Amino acid sequence: MFVNFLGLLCLALSSLVLGQTNADIQNDPISVFVTTPGSGSGNYVFALNVPSNSEDIYFHLSGPDAYQWIAVGTGSEMKNSLMFIAYLNSTGTGVTLSPRISTDETEPSYSSSINVETLSGTGVANGTITVNGRCTNCTTWNKGSLDLKSMNQAFIYGLGPSSGSLVKLQSNSLSANLERHSVYGNFEMNMTKATGGTNGTTLLSTSFPSITTSSGASQDGHQTSDGNWPVIIHAAVLSIAFIIIMPSGAIFLRIIPASVRWHWVDQSLATILIGIGGVLGLWLSTMYNRSSSYNSAHQVLGIICVIAVFVQWFLGFWHHYQYKKHQTPTKYGAVHLHMGRIILVFAIVVGAIGLSWSFVKTSIIIAYVVIAGVIVAIVLALSVLKRHTSASFSFLQAKGSERSLNAEGSYENIEDPFSNRHEYRPYESNTPLASYPHRGDSR
Ligand code: HEM
Ligand code: HEM
Repeated sequence: MFVNFLGLLCLALSSLVLGQTNADIQNDPISVFVTTPGSGSGNYVFALNVPSNSEDIYFHLSGPDAYQWIAVGTGSEMKNSLMFIAYLNSTGTGVTLSPRISTDETEPSYSSSINVETLSGTGVANGTITVNGRCTNCTTWNKGSLDLKSMNQAFIYGLGPSSGSLVKLQSNSLSANLERHSVYGNFEMNMTKATGGTNGTTLLSTSFPSITTSSGASQDGHQTSDGNWPVIIHAAVLSIAFIIIMPSGAIFLRIIPASVRWHWVDQSLATILIGIGGVLGLWLSTMYNRSSSYNSAHQVLGIICVIAVFVQWFLGFWHHYQYKKHQTPTKYGAVHLHMGRIILVFAIVVGAIGLSWSFVKTSIIIAYVVIAGVIVAIVLALSVLKRHTSASFSFLQAKGSERSLNAEGSYENIEDPFSNRHEYRPYESNTPLASYPHRGDSR
């Protein structure tokens, strides 16, 4: 008797200190799904209660605030799923709950027709975003429905990116921009277990931090770690093309090995990569609400920049063709020269806007602009200097000339713009080739 009393006392004390236990909710009208999204970052929890004789649903959604957003959705895939997405409010002291409907494997859109409200217990504390909510019209919507009698109603879950290089999403807007998830998965819920009681009282009084295993719910398949790889490839391909390959083309033409052929090969490679990066950008744009109209600064400037690169390639080709034919500088060459420099600077600006659009931290954007700016500035300075003080580079030119002579054998001596007889300066003036200053000239 005394032992029984002690046991009961211990149980009562432990639930006071620790809150409810997994065992406590076995017989409650609540189904709970619990999973660990990442190493040591805390649990993701979704719990549901449907009061008897009601179409309302009461729910609990919680997860680590290390992720930009946490979400649950109905059904077994994103398409046509009704979702609840939670993220920090603009001050970072509360939570915004956004009801959305997803039409595909793309960013879901806010739906104002869903009547959902947050209840007491909603907030952010100890690194956990918590939402207790009620929805009064979530059992059917224009794209689907919940089967309240189902023993295995399908649901999906997802958590936004958690990378340290991104800023936290903090917004009061119900249609705030989201980045693609870093984790997602599927689970099933027993809706009959979740049914009972009135006004969600049991769910609202449950202490979910102490619930560590699912009850009336189970993971369906494996949790998937995802990444925003299309954005990363888009950014990497374009940045490498604009910041490394394209500026190298100026060096190849002017300094080492001072060869039109190397310049041509290099710039053609850059142009192909920029084409691929641009097409990837167009495809990426279909994935987000902010980009699906193709009218943001990054997209408009990006499209202009990509088109300019193709025009630039053609100008270079046409100028060179005309130059070989007539051995006189052309106006295409002059445009090619100046446009090339403008494009390099322009691309850095477009890249920086792209980064800030993708939630990248300001310190990283500044580092990107500084590194890219320094590389492009050095290359432009070298090539400008080379034009004006060719004598100071003569040791390089002498080496380069030999190589380019071999490489450009098809020019024959008179056409070879890099022969020892002439500087290759056809872009800059309308002076006929014959009157170009010779290397030995004192200018
Ligand atoms: C910006 C927002 C989002 C974007 C751009 C996005 C994009 C995508 C993409 C591209 C896939 C296919 C991945 C692959 O096949 O490798 C996918 C799958 C998936 N996503 Fe999302 N998603 C977003 C938001 C969400 C949200 C809020 C949830 C959870 C409620 C979610 C849950 C899932 C699940 C469960 C899958 C696998 C099932 C399926 O293919 O539909 N997603 N998502
Ligand atoms: C000069 C050409 C361009 C450069 C240098 C560039 C660079 C970038 C960079 C650095 C990012 C950020 C990626 C990250 O966070 O890892 C980005 C994102 C993006 N870019 Fe571009 N881009 C260019 C052209 C374009 C074009 C032509 C389009 C489409 C019309 C486009 C669409 C996008 C989209 C949709 C994103 C993702 C935004 C997000 O994740 O929220 N970009 N771009």
